[in-house]
Amino acid sequence: MNDQNNTGEFYITTPIYYVNGVPHIGHAYTTIVADVIARWRAAQGENVIFSTGVDENAQKTVDAAKKTGEEIRAYTDRMADIWTAAWQKLGISYTDFIRTTEERHVETVNDFWGRMDAAGDLYKGMYEGLYCKGHEAFIKENELVDGLCPEHKTAPELVSEQNYFFRLSNYQQKLLGFYETHEEFVAPAHRFQEVKSFVEQGLEDISFSREKKEWGIPVPNDPEQVIYVWADALVNYISVVGIERWEEHPADMHAVGKDILRFHAVIWPAMLMSAGLPLPGQVVANGFLTIDGTKIGKSLGNGIDPFDLAARYGNDAVRYFLLREVPYGEDGDFSEAKMKERYNADLANGLGNFTARVLTIAEKNPVAEGNLDGEFAATIRLMQKTVLGKMGQLKFGDALAAIWAAITFGDRYVNEKKIWEIKDERELARALFNLITLLEAITRELTPFMPETASILAAAVTHKDGSITVKKPAILFPRVK
Ligand code: MSP
Repeated sequence: MNDQNNTGEFYITTPIYYVNGVPHIGHAYTTIVADVIARWRAAQGENVIFSTGVDENAQKTVDAAKKTGEEIRAYTDRMADIWTAAWQKLGISYTDFIRTTEERHVETVNDFWGRMDAAGDLYKGMYEGLYCKGHEAFIKENELVDGLCPEHKTAPELVSEQNYFFRLSNYQQKLLGFYETHEEFVAPAHRFQEVKSFVEQGLEDISFSREKKEWGIPVPNDPEQVIYVWADALVNYISVVGIERWEEHPADMHAVGKDILRFHAVIWPAMLMSAGLPLPGQVVANGFLTIDGTKIGKSLGNGIDPFDLAARYGNDAVRYFLLREVPYGEDGDFSEAKMKERYNADLANGLGNFTARVLTIAEKNPVAEGNLDGEFAATIRLMQKTVLGKMGQLKFGDALAAIWAAITFGDRYVNEKKIWEIKDERELARALFNLITLLEAITRELTPFMPETASILAAAVTHKDGSITVKKPAILFPRVK
């Protein structure tokens, strides 16, 4: 991870989501990753700003509202509530939720547009092309399959109109120069490679407005045009903190999906360069989740409901599965069978069983603070060191594996020592001190990944005047059939 602004503050963002549908497991994945990083940074003592929100000014919003028969504004109000409630239910620790219809955003977009204009980077021209509403972007004819956008399976609309253009072509060399001196600007590394090759092939100016539509932010001083939804949406990251604060401390990390990496790693930095504002520290991109090999998408209608899953397995189990199973940056396939398997093996048996065994005995027997056995100290150190290193590389699955290695170690100790058979009180107290200390260390490492479980475990153990009291919680992960 990139620490370009070492001021003890860490600003991380999720994409702002379109409101033409409700959250599915793909959106939840991007948001959960950002949440884990946000909680991890907070645990390191940083003051975290964590923003998420909704992207309302899109054409697809208008279409979706028409379908329900609602007035557009009433529709987006209702959807914004659905998205906020969704993240709250999943326990996402965001500190700011932004809507692009908010005044603070509209003002920032106006300011930003003025800066690009003053830099001479906006000009009016004729645009002719095919617009895919699914992408909210123009699409090339040779990308179509049977006349349809291959991703959204819809026919693009032929557009021929006067637009404002952004001189993206001016920024090719500047971007390449920036990439060269900021080796960690995009992660994982192979995604950065894709971005660089794309820019090396040359950049065309892009249309940054549409002819007057019923919905969207009007172009300053030209009410006949509305600002292109991406030119508006990207600026949300500044609206959250305000331009002055962004100048002092831009976002440290934008967490996005690979489908929108170019917008964040090419167009957004070029816009910021044009506006004379500092660039974000890093853009990290997750791969795509599929269900049985098929892309999840609200436009395709096969989205898995993350709330249904969370209701049945718990928030922490969903987080655990996604982070353990899908290597960050790669595509991953979701299947409930696989999730159930991991749940029973790693959570019900692994973590759940280990903590239950230790806490059951510790609740009934005296435990006192004492000296930790060397192998326990070494296991804890190794876990902490590995987690730290793996988090820096966004290898969440490996970080979790390191925590699970410590659980396995503790389990083996319980078995080998047969702690339920130990008669000698001092020997038992010492074994329990080892195990409780290990459990507390595991709990700390688990906090960003499984905050609800970690807080239950943390509350189970109390230290007072050198003695330790344990109160066993209810079963953490009941087995599922
Ligand atoms: N509104 C834009 C983002 C603007 S950010 C300035 C947008 N919205 S979206 O709702 O369509 O998707 C947002 C993000 O959701 C995608 O970038 C991606 O990260 C995530 N995902 C959507 N479907 C996904 C999967 N099937 N799998 C993983 N992530 C997915 O794009």
